[in-house]
Amino acid sequence: MKAEFAPALRCPVCHSDGALELSVTARDEREVREGTLRCRVCASEFPVQRGVPELLHAPPEHVQAEAAGLERFADRMRALGWDREMVRSLPHHNSGYWYVQWRSLYQLLSSIRFAADRTIVDVGSNTCWAANQFAQNGLRAIALDIATAELQGLYTADYFIEDGEVYFERVLGSMDTMPLASASVDYVFCCEVLHHNDPVGLRRTFTEAFRVLRPGGRLLVVNETLKTLRDPDGVHTVGVAPFEGYEHAYWAWQYRWEATRAGFYTEVMEPHYRSFFGDDAVVSDPGDGRWRAAAARLGTRLQSSGAARRAYLAWLNHVWGGVSLNMVATKPYRLVGGSEGAGPTRRMASMLAAGAAMQIARAARRPTAGRRLPRTPKQAARQAAQFRSAGQQSDEPVGELESSSQR
Ligand SMILES: C[S@@+](CC[C@H](N)C(=O)[O-])C[C@H]1O[C@@H](n2cnc3c(N)ncnc32)[C@H](O)[C@@H]1O
Ligand SMILES: [Zn+2]
Repeated sequence: MKAEFAPALRCPVCHSDGALELSVTARDEREVREGTLRCRVCASEFPVQRGVPELLHAPPEHVQAEAAGLERFADRMRALGWDREMVRSLPHHNSGYWYVQWRSLYQLLSSIRFAADRTIVDVGSNTCWAANQFAQNGLRAIALDIATAELQGLYTADYFIEDGEVYFERVLGSMDTMPLASASVDYVFCCEVLHHNDPVGLRRTFTEAFRVLRPGGRLLVVNETLKTLRDPDGVHTVGVAPFEGYEHAYWAWQYRWEATRAGFYTEVMEPHYRSFFGDDAVVSDPGDGRWRAAAARLGTRLQSSGAARRAYLAWLNHVWGGVSLNMVATKPYRLVGGSEGAGPTRRMASMLAAGAAMQIARAARRPTAGRRLPRTPKQAARQAAQFRSAGQQSDEPVGELESSSQR
Protein backbone atom coordinates (compact mmCIF):
# COMPACT_ATOMS: atom_id res chain seq x y z
CA MET A 1 0.00 0.00 0.00
CA LYS A 2 1.02 3.59 -0.50
CA ALA A 3 1.41 5.53 2.73
CA GLU A 4 -1.07 8.14 1.49
CA PHE A 5 -3.78 5.47 1.22
CA ALA A 6 -4.04 5.10 5.04
CA PRO A 7 -6.49 8.02 5.57
CA ALA A 8 -8.93 6.40 3.11
CA LEU A 9 -9.26 3.35 5.35
CA ARG A 10 -11.69 2.70 8.20
CA CYS A 11 -10.91 0.81 11.37
CA PRO A 12 -12.81 -2.51 11.15
CA VAL A 13 -13.09 -2.68 14.96
CA CYS A 14 -14.40 0.74 16.03
CA HIS A 15 -15.46 1.92 12.54
CA SER A 16 -13.58 5.21 12.74
CA ASP A 17 -12.79 6.68 9.34
CA GLY A 18 -9.25 7.82 8.65
CA ALA A 19 -8.01 6.75 12.08
CA LEU A 20 -5.40 4.18 11.03
CA GLU A 21 -1.81 5.29 11.42
CA LEU A 22 0.85 3.47 9.49
CA SER A 23 4.27 2.47 10.72
CA VAL A 24 6.56 1.04 8.09
CA THR A 25 8.97 -1.86 8.44
CA ALA A 26 9.77 -2.48 4.78
CA ARG A 27 9.08 -0.67 1.54
CA ASP A 28 10.09 -1.02 -2.08
CA GLU A 29 10.19 1.55 -4.86
CA ARG A 30 6.40 1.47 -5.24
CA GLU A 31 4.86 1.03 -1.84
CA VAL A 32 4.97 -0.04 1.79
CA ARG A 33 5.37 -3.82 1.78
CA GLU A 34 5.43 -4.59 5.52
CA GLY A 35 4.22 -2.57 8.45
CA THR A 36 1.48 -2.02 10.99
CA LEU A 37 -1.69 0.05 10.99
CA ARG A 38 -2.72 1.24 14.43
CA CYS A 39 -6.09 2.77 15.20
CA ARG A 40 -5.76 6.08 16.92
CA VAL A 41 -9.23 5.67 18.46
CA CYS A 42 -9.40 2.07 19.75
CA ALA A 43 -5.68 1.13 19.60
CA SER A 44 -6.34 -2.00 17.52
CA GLU A 45 -3.42 -3.05 15.34
CA PHE A 46 -3.45 -4.60 11.89
CA PRO A 47 -0.52 -5.95 9.92
CA VAL A 48 0.44 -4.94 6.40
CA GLN A 49 1.93 -7.90 4.55
CA ARG A 50 3.18 -8.00 0.96
CA GLY A 51 1.63 -4.55 0.57
CA VAL A 52 -1.82 -5.69 1.75
CA PRO A 53 -3.42 -4.10 4.83
CA GLU A 54 -5.16 -6.93 6.68
CA LEU A 55 -8.45 -5.44 7.80
CA LEU A 56 -10.58 -8.56 7.94
CA HIS A 57 -11.68 -8.38 11.54
CA ALA A 58 -13.25 -11.42 13.28
CA PRO A 59 -14.40 -13.07 10.04
CA PRO A 60 -17.30 -15.52 10.43
CA GLU A 61 -16.60 -19.20 9.87
CA HIS A 62 -17.96 -19.25 6.33
CA VAL A 63 -15.58 -16.47 5.30
CA GLN A 64 -12.61 -18.33 6.79
CA ALA A 65 -13.74 -21.54 5.05
CA GLU A 66 -14.12 -19.79 1.68
CA ALA A 67 -10.70 -18.12 1.96
CA ALA A 68 -9.11 -21.48 2.83
CA GLY A 69 -10.98 -23.09 -0.08
CA LEU A 70 -9.50 -20.51 -2.44
CA GLU A 71 -5.98 -21.55 -1.34
CA ARG A 72 -6.88 -25.09 -2.44
CA PHE A 73 -8.50 -23.80 -5.62
CA ALA A 74 -5.29 -21.90 -6.42
CA ASP A 75 -3.42 -25.23 -6.26
CA ARG A 76 -5.89 -26.70 -8.71
CA MET A 77 -5.38 -23.76 -11.07
CA ARG A 78 -1.63 -24.23 -10.86
CA ALA A 79 -2.08 -27.90 -11.70
CA LEU A 80 -4.19 -26.88 -14.70
CA GLY A 81 -1.32 -24.76 -15.98
CA TRP A 82 -2.35 -21.28 -14.84
CA ASP A 83 0.62 -19.03 -14.28
CA ARG A 84 1.61 -15.38 -14.07
CA GLU A 85 1.42 -14.72 -17.79
CA MET A 86 -2.01 -16.29 -18.18
CA VAL A 87 -3.39 -14.23 -15.30
CA ARG A 88 -1.83 -11.07 -16.71
CA SER A 89 -3.64 -11.63 -19.98
CA LEU A 90 -7.11 -11.78 -18.35
CA PRO A 91 -9.89 -11.15 -19.33
CA HIS A 92 -8.53 -12.39 -22.66
CA HIS A 93 -8.73 -16.13 -22.41
CA ASN A 94 -10.23 -18.62 -24.75
CA SER A 95 -13.41 -19.67 -22.93
CA GLY A 96 -17.07 -18.76 -22.85
CA TYR A 97 -16.76 -17.62 -19.24
CA TRP A 98 -13.96 -15.18 -20.02
CA TYR A 99 -15.68 -13.97 -23.18
CA VAL A 100 -18.60 -12.88 -21.00
CA GLN A 101 -16.24 -11.21 -18.50
CA TRP A 102 -14.36 -9.39 -21.27
CA ARG A 103 -17.51 -8.28 -23.09
CA SER A 104 -19.06 -7.07 -19.83
CA LEU A 105 -16.01 -5.00 -18.94
CA TYR A 106 -15.93 -3.57 -22.44
CA GLN A 107 -19.63 -2.71 -22.16
CA LEU A 108 -18.97 -0.91 -18.89
CA LEU A 109 -15.99 1.01 -20.23
CA SER A 110 -17.96 2.10 -23.29
CA SER A 111 -21.16 2.97 -21.37
CA ILE A 112 -19.68 4.82 -18.42
CA ARG A 113 -17.24 7.50 -19.35
CA PHE A 114 -14.98 7.00 -16.36
CA ALA A 115 -12.98 10.10 -15.60
CA ALA A 116 -9.33 9.38 -14.94
CA ASP A 117 -8.30 9.68 -11.33
CA ARG A 118 -11.65 8.61 -9.95
CA THR A 119 -11.55 5.85 -7.36
CA ILE A 120 -13.06 2.42 -7.93
CA VAL A 121 -13.25 -0.52 -5.53
CA ASP A 122 -13.15 -3.96 -7.13
CA VAL A 123 -15.11 -5.97 -4.57
CA GLY A 124 -14.24 -9.68 -4.45
CA SER A 125 -11.32 -9.01 -6.80
CA ASN A 126 -10.02 -12.60 -6.83
CA THR A 127 -7.19 -12.56 -9.45
CA CYS A 128 -7.42 -8.74 -9.55
CA TRP A 129 -7.85 -8.83 -13.33
CA ALA A 130 -10.53 -6.11 -13.24
CA ALA A 131 -8.59 -3.87 -10.81
CA ASN A 132 -5.71 -4.11 -13.28
CA GLN A 133 -7.96 -3.14 -16.20
CA PHE A 134 -9.36 -0.17 -14.29
CA ALA A 135 -5.86 0.97 -13.31
CA GLN A 136 -4.80 0.68 -16.97
CA ASN A 137 -7.73 2.94 -17.81
CA GLY A 138 -6.45 5.62 -15.46
CA LEU A 139 -8.68 4.94 -12.47
CA ARG A 140 -7.42 4.74 -8.93
CA ALA A 141 -8.32 1.13 -8.19
CA ILE A 142 -8.62 -0.72 -4.90
CA ALA A 143 -8.97 -4.51 -4.89
CA LEU A 144 -10.90 -5.86 -1.89
CA ASP A 145 -11.12 -9.56 -1.08
CA ILE A 146 -11.18 -12.01 1.81
CA ALA A 147 -8.44 -14.15 0.23
CA THR A 148 -4.76 -13.50 -0.42
CA ALA A 149 -3.81 -16.76 -2.22
CA GLU A 150 -1.68 -16.19 -5.32
CA LEU A 151 -3.88 -17.04 -8.36
CA GLN A 152 -7.05 -16.67 -6.24
CA GLY A 153 -6.56 -13.64 -4.05
CA LEU A 154 -4.85 -10.34 -3.40
CA TYR A 155 -1.23 -11.46 -3.66
CA THR A 156 -1.93 -12.12 -7.36
CA ALA A 157 -1.82 -8.32 -7.71
CA ASP A 158 1.98 -8.49 -7.62
CA TYR A 159 1.87 -10.12 -11.10
CA PHE A 160 0.34 -6.90 -12.43
CA ILE A 161 2.12 -4.22 -10.42
CA GLU A 162 5.63 -5.67 -10.22
CA ASP A 163 6.82 -4.16 -13.49
CA GLY A 164 5.72 -0.69 -12.31
CA GLU A 165 3.42 0.04 -15.26
CA VAL A 166 0.22 0.03 -13.27
CA TYR A 167 -0.54 0.32 -9.60
CA PHE A 168 -3.58 -0.43 -7.49
CA GLU A 169 -4.23 -0.88 -3.79
CA ARG A 170 -5.26 -4.20 -2.25
CA VAL A 171 -7.21 -4.54 0.98
CA LEU A 172 -8.04 -7.70 2.88
CA GLY A 173 -11.56 -7.16 4.14
CA SER A 174 -15.16 -8.19 3.75
CA MET A 175 -17.73 -6.55 1.48
CA ASP A 176 -20.34 -6.47 4.24
CA THR A 177 -18.07 -4.35 6.48
CA MET A 178 -15.82 -2.56 4.02
CA PRO A 179 -12.75 -1.16 5.77
CA LEU A 180 -12.97 2.00 3.65
CA ALA A 181 -13.87 5.50 4.79
CA SER A 182 -17.39 6.81 4.11
CA ALA A 183 -17.97 8.80 0.91
CA SER A 184 -14.42 8.05 -0.21
CA VAL A 185 -14.93 6.28 -3.57
CA ASP A 186 -16.62 7.06 -6.87
CA TYR A 187 -17.44 3.54 -8.08
CA VAL A 188 -17.99 0.18 -6.44
CA PHE A 189 -17.57 -2.68 -8.91
CA CYS A 190 -19.13 -6.03 -7.99
CA CYS A 191 -18.59 -8.74 -10.57
CA GLU A 192 -20.01 -12.13 -9.65
CA VAL A 193 -19.58 -11.50 -5.98
CA LEU A 194 -22.81 -10.28 -4.35
CA HIS A 195 -24.14 -13.83 -4.36
CA HIS A 196 -21.32 -14.79 -1.97
CA ASN A 197 -23.59 -13.37 0.71
CA ASP A 198 -26.43 -14.77 2.77
CA PRO A 199 -29.48 -12.47 2.89
CA VAL A 200 -28.18 -10.57 5.93
CA GLY A 201 -24.79 -10.11 4.29
CA LEU A 202 -26.40 -9.00 1.02
CA ARG A 203 -28.36 -6.27 2.77
CA ARG A 204 -25.27 -5.12 4.65
CA THR A 205 -23.19 -5.13 1.48
CA PHE A 206 -25.59 -2.79 -0.33
CA THR A 207 -25.64 -0.52 2.72
CA GLU A 208 -21.84 -0.56 2.81
CA ALA A 209 -21.54 0.19 -0.90
CA PHE A 210 -23.89 3.14 -0.36
CA ARG A 211 -21.84 4.36 2.58
CA VAL A 212 -18.43 4.25 0.89
CA LEU A 213 -19.69 5.96 -2.28
CA ARG A 214 -19.71 9.69 -2.72
CA PRO A 215 -23.07 11.18 -3.68
CA GLY A 216 -23.41 10.70 -7.43
CA GLY A 217 -21.18 7.62 -7.20
CA ARG A 218 -22.17 4.37 -8.80
CA LEU A 219 -22.40 0.75 -7.80
CA LEU A 220 -21.71 -1.38 -10.87
CA VAL A 221 -23.24 -4.82 -10.56
CA VAL A 222 -21.93 -7.16 -13.24
CA ASN A 223 -22.73 -10.79 -14.03
CA GLU A 224 -24.54 -11.53 -10.82
CA THR A 225 -25.92 -15.04 -10.39
CA LEU A 226 -29.71 -15.22 -10.68
CA LYS A 227 -32.56 -17.42 -9.64
CA THR A 228 -35.15 -17.71 -12.39
CA LEU A 229 -38.39 -19.63 -12.79
CA ARG A 230 -36.62 -22.13 -15.04
CA ASP A 231 -33.70 -22.44 -12.60
CA PRO A 232 -34.93 -21.58 -9.11
CA ASP A 233 -31.67 -22.83 -7.50
CA GLY A 234 -29.45 -20.50 -9.48
CA VAL A 235 -26.27 -21.72 -7.83
CA HIS A 236 -24.60 -24.87 -9.13
CA THR A 237 -21.70 -26.13 -7.08
CA VAL A 238 -21.13 -29.42 -8.89
CA GLY A 239 -17.36 -29.92 -9.02
CA VAL A 240 -16.57 -26.91 -6.81
CA ALA A 241 -18.34 -27.94 -3.58
CA PRO A 242 -15.03 -29.02 -1.94
CA PHE A 243 -13.84 -25.39 -2.18
CA GLU A 244 -16.62 -24.22 0.14
CA GLY A 245 -17.67 -21.07 -1.71
CA TYR A 246 -20.46 -19.39 0.25
CA GLU A 247 -22.83 -19.03 -2.67
CA HIS A 248 -26.50 -18.05 -2.76
CA ALA A 249 -28.39 -16.93 -5.84
CA TYR A 250 -31.11 -14.28 -5.62
CA TRP A 251 -33.95 -13.18 -7.84
CA ALA A 252 -33.25 -10.10 -9.98
CA TRP A 253 -35.92 -8.18 -8.09
CA GLN A 254 -34.21 -9.03 -4.77
CA TYR A 255 -30.90 -7.46 -5.83
CA ARG A 256 -32.83 -4.48 -7.12
CA TRP A 257 -34.93 -4.15 -3.99
CA GLU A 258 -31.91 -4.41 -1.68
CA ALA A 259 -30.16 -1.70 -3.70
CA THR A 260 -33.27 0.47 -3.57
CA ARG A 261 -33.67 -0.12 0.12
CA ALA A 262 -30.09 0.99 0.70
CA GLY A 263 -30.94 4.29 -1.04
CA PHE A 264 -29.76 3.66 -4.61
CA TYR A 265 -31.49 4.63 -7.84
CA THR A 266 -31.24 1.48 -9.99
CA GLU A 267 -31.05 0.82 -13.74
CA VAL A 268 -30.91 -2.72 -15.08
CA MET A 269 -28.52 -2.98 -18.02
CA GLU A 270 -28.72 -5.15 -21.11
CA PRO A 271 -25.95 -7.73 -21.38
CA HIS A 272 -24.19 -7.00 -24.67
CA TYR A 273 -22.61 -10.44 -24.73
CA ARG A 274 -26.04 -11.72 -25.67
CA SER A 275 -26.37 -11.25 -29.42
CA PHE A 276 -29.89 -9.79 -29.27
CA PHE A 277 -28.56 -6.93 -27.11
CA GLY A 278 -25.16 -6.78 -28.76
CA ASP A 279 -23.74 -5.84 -32.11
CA ASP A 280 -24.58 -9.03 -33.93
CA ALA A 281 -27.44 -9.59 -36.30
CA VAL A 282 -30.05 -11.76 -34.61
CA VAL A 283 -29.79 -14.30 -37.39
CA SER A 284 -26.20 -14.08 -38.57
CA ASP A 285 -26.77 -15.70 -41.95
CA PRO A 286 -30.37 -15.38 -43.16
CA GLY A 287 -29.43 -17.41 -46.28
CA ASP A 288 -32.03 -17.89 -49.00
CA GLY A 289 -34.80 -19.50 -46.96
CA ARG A 290 -37.97 -17.41 -46.78
CA TRP A 291 -38.60 -18.22 -43.12
CA ARG A 292 -35.10 -17.41 -42.00
CA ALA A 293 -35.20 -14.13 -43.86
CA ALA A 294 -38.55 -13.27 -42.25
CA ALA A 295 -37.19 -14.24 -38.81
CA ALA A 296 -34.16 -12.04 -39.39
CA ARG A 297 -36.39 -9.09 -40.34
CA LEU A 298 -38.58 -9.59 -37.27
CA GLY A 299 -35.51 -9.99 -35.01
CA THR A 300 -33.97 -6.79 -36.34
CA ARG A 301 -37.23 -4.91 -35.82
CA LEU A 302 -37.57 -6.19 -32.24
CA GLN A 303 -33.91 -5.46 -31.58
CA SER A 304 -34.43 -1.82 -32.40
CA SER A 305 -37.50 -1.45 -30.18
CA GLY A 306 -36.75 -0.29 -26.63
CA ALA A 307 -39.95 -1.88 -25.29
CA ALA A 308 -39.17 -5.24 -26.90
CA ARG A 309 -35.65 -5.17 -25.50
CA ARG A 310 -36.92 -4.41 -22.01
CA ALA A 311 -39.56 -7.13 -22.20
CA TYR A 312 -37.05 -9.70 -23.47
CA LEU A 313 -34.56 -8.75 -20.74
CA ALA A 314 -37.25 -9.07 -18.06
CA TRP A 315 -38.14 -12.49 -19.46
CA LEU A 316 -34.49 -13.62 -19.39
CA ASN A 317 -33.77 -12.17 -15.96
CA HIS A 318 -36.84 -13.61 -14.28
CA VAL A 319 -38.01 -16.61 -16.25
CA TRP A 320 -35.67 -18.10 -18.77
CA GLY A 321 -32.22 -17.33 -17.39
CA GLY A 322 -29.09 -17.87 -19.48
CA VAL A 323 -27.91 -14.39 -18.51
CA SER A 324 -26.73 -12.86 -15.27
CA LEU A 325 -27.75 -9.56 -13.76
CA ASN A 326 -26.14 -6.30 -14.85
CA MET A 327 -27.28 -3.27 -12.92
CA VAL A 328 -26.02 0.25 -12.32
CA ALA A 329 -27.11 1.74 -9.01
CA THR A 330 -26.51 5.44 -8.42
CA LYS A 331 -26.25 7.11 -5.03
CA PRO A 332 -28.43 10.17 -5.52
CA TYR A 333 -27.09 13.63 -4.86
CA ARG A 334 -30.11 14.96 -3.15
CA LEU A 335 -32.04 13.72 -0.16
CA VAL A 336 -29.16 11.45 0.77
CA GLY A 337 -27.92 12.76 4.08
CA GLY A 338 -31.36 12.69 5.70
CA SER A 339 -32.16 9.15 4.67
CA GLU A 340 -29.15 7.39 6.12
CA GLY A 341 -29.95 5.66 9.35
CA ALA A 342 -33.67 5.96 8.58
CA GLY A 343 -36.05 3.01 8.40
CA PRO A 344 -36.91 1.31 5.08
CA THR A 345 -40.13 3.28 4.51
CA ARG A 346 -38.42 6.64 4.80
CA ARG A 347 -35.49 5.42 2.75
CA MET A 348 -37.83 4.17 0.05
CA ALA A 349 -39.66 7.50 0.01
CA SER A 350 -36.39 9.46 -0.22
CA MET A 351 -35.08 7.12 -2.89
CA LEU A 352 -38.21 7.60 -5.01
CA ALA A 353 -38.00 11.36 -4.53
CA ALA A 354 -34.28 11.29 -5.40
CA GLY A 355 -34.99 9.15 -8.48
CA ALA A 356 -37.65 11.62 -9.65
CA ALA A 357 -35.32 14.57 -8.98
CA MET A 358 -32.63 12.82 -10.99
CA GLN A 359 -34.97 12.28 -13.95
CA ILE A 360 -35.99 15.94 -13.91
CA ALA A 361 -32.35 17.03 -13.65
CA ARG A 362 -31.46 14.72 -16.53
CA ALA A 363 -34.22 16.16 -18.66
CA ALA A 364 -32.89 19.65 -17.85
CA ARG A 365 -29.32 18.36 -18.53
CA ARG A 366 -28.06 19.54 -15.18
CA PRO A 367 -24.47 18.48 -14.63
CA THR A 368 -25.16 16.75 -11.31
CA ALA A 369 -27.81 14.46 -12.77
CA GLY A 370 -25.66 11.75 -14.26
CA ARG A 371 -26.29 10.76 -17.82
CA ARG A 372 -28.83 8.17 -18.85
CA LEU A 373 -26.60 5.26 -19.69
CA PRO A 374 -26.53 3.97 -23.26
CA ARG A 375 -28.41 0.70 -23.61
CA THR A 376 -27.07 -0.57 -26.92
CA PRO A 377 -23.56 -0.76 -28.40
CA LYS A 378 -24.73 1.69 -31.09
CA GLN A 379 -25.88 4.22 -28.48
CA ALA A 380 -22.58 3.77 -26.61
CA ALA A 381 -20.59 4.36 -29.80
CA ARG A 382 -22.71 7.44 -30.64
CA GLN A 383 -22.13 8.93 -27.18
CA ALA A 384 -18.40 8.20 -27.41
CA ALA A 385 -18.27 10.03 -30.74
CA GLN A 386 -20.16 13.01 -29.24
CA PHE A 387 -17.63 13.09 -26.42
CA ARG A 388 -14.71 12.97 -28.80
CA SER A 389 -16.07 15.79 -30.93
CA ALA A 390 -16.77 17.88 -27.81
CA GLY A 391 -13.21 17.14 -26.60
CA GLN A 392 -14.68 15.99 -23.31
CA GLN A 393 -13.18 13.16 -21.36
CA SER A 394 -16.11 12.41 -19.10
CA ASP A 395 -19.40 13.80 -17.93
CA GLU A 396 -19.67 11.54 -14.94
CA PRO A 397 -20.74 13.85 -12.15
CA VAL A 398 -19.39 11.85 -9.23
CA GLY A 399 -17.16 13.42 -6.67
CA GLU A 400 -18.46 16.96 -6.66
CA LEU A 401 -20.45 17.04 -3.48
CA GLU A 402 -23.37 19.29 -2.91
CA SER A 403 -23.17 20.66 0.57
CA SER A 404 -26.79 19.71 1.27
CA SER A 405 -26.07 16.06 0.67
CA GLN A 406 -22.82 15.78 2.57
CA ARG A 407 -22.83 13.91 5.77
C1 LIG B 1 -16.65 -15.80 -8.16
S1 LIG B 1 -15.30 -14.90 -7.51
C2 LIG B 1 -15.46 -13.43 -8.48
C3 LIG B 1 -14.16 -12.92 -8.81
C4 LIG B 1 -13.99 -11.63 -9.60
N1 LIG B 1 -14.88 -10.57 -9.24
C5 LIG B 1 -13.99 -11.93 -11.06
O1 LIG B 1 -14.85 -11.42 -11.75
O2 LIG B 1 -13.11 -12.66 -11.53
C6 LIG B 1 -15.84 -14.38 -5.90
C7 LIG B 1 -14.76 -13.65 -5.11
O3 LIG B 1 -15.42 -13.03 -4.01
C8 LIG B 1 -14.61 -13.13 -2.87
N2 LIG B 1 -15.47 -13.00 -1.68
C9 LIG B 1 -16.29 -13.91 -1.13
N3 LIG B 1 -16.87 -13.43 -0.02
C10 LIG B 1 -16.41 -12.16 0.14
C11 LIG B 1 -16.63 -11.14 1.10
N4 LIG B 1 -17.44 -11.32 2.14
N5 LIG B 1 -16.00 -9.97 0.93
C12 LIG B 1 -15.17 -9.76 -0.11
N6 LIG B 1 -14.91 -10.69 -1.05
C13 LIG B 1 -15.52 -11.88 -0.93
C14 LIG B 1 -13.96 -14.48 -3.01
O4 LIG B 1 -12.81 -14.55 -2.23
C15 LIG B 1 -13.69 -14.53 -4.52
O5 LIG B 1 -12.43 -14.01 -4.82
ZN1 LIG C 1 -10.46 1.53 15.87
